[in-house]
Amino acid sequence: MTSPASGTLPEPQVRAMFDRIAGVYDRMNSVMTAGMHHRWRERAVDLAGVRAGSRALDVATGTGDLALELQRRGAAVVGLDFSTEMLELAREKAPGIGWVQGNALELPHADDEFDAVTVGFGARNFSDLDRGLNEMTRVAKPGGRVVILEITTPEHPPLSLFFSLWFDRLVPALGRIAGDSAAYSYLPSSVRRFPGPEELAARMAGAGLHDVRWVLTAGGIIAIHVGVVR
Ligand SMILES: C[S@@+](CC[C@H](N)C(=O)[O-])C[C@H]1O[C@@H](n2cnc3c(N)ncnc32)[C@H](O)[C@@H]1O
Repeated sequence: MTSPASGTLPEPQVRAMFDRIAGVYDRMNSVMTAGMHHRWRERAVDLAGVRAGSRALDVATGTGDLALELQRRGAAVVGLDFSTEMLELAREKAPGIGWVQGNALELPHADDEFDAVTVGFGARNFSDLDRGLNEMTRVAKPGGRVVILEITTPEHPPLSLFFSLWFDRLVPALGRIAGDSAAYSYLPSSVRRFPGPEELAARMAGAGLHDVRWVLTAGGIIAIHVGVVR
């Protein structure tokens, strides 16, 4: 079943949804996370291991905040997304990044191009997760890193109770205020149906990554996975 409430939507609808919410996206992130999302992005980029001279690709880059963090560390960065409106806002933030409109499931890049390939809060929207992981791995160089930053569902109280309150009540209410209740009820549902940390690590290994590990932060609500390309 595909619907916002089931957390699964066909690709054209995902794209249309992000085009629609682009204008409120950054503000909603700051309100929903009390500004903590910047710290999570910094930690993801720590794990990407980029430095001056590295080449990095941020897929499903949205309004570009993870791409910007990669650039701050000295990497030459490409940010890719299929939403015109999200990319437009990214472009305004950093004209120096190579913004590309494209599909993460069919990356317009050659094999072994990048030292690091990242995705932040995007993998859960892929209509085919394994294909997205295979593509990210394909375009990264041997020895390069693939990093996935995602929201994950904590399993034990008290965090699971807080998470449920935050995600099932507060986020949809904020979505109604922001004028898009469908998008912000899709968000908790898409997190719930996304694989947990162990399964995601196994899927990354299945895409050909090794030394896959992850860190949980924000009390277990945020998972950052990293794997190395063979
Ligand atoms: C929740 S936003 C995350 C944006 C950004 N990475 C961040 O950290 O805030 C998800 C983004 O993924 C993009 N997206 C989802 N599936 C995609 C795909 N198959 N190809 C390209 N972009 C995709 C959407 O357009 C949207 O901008």
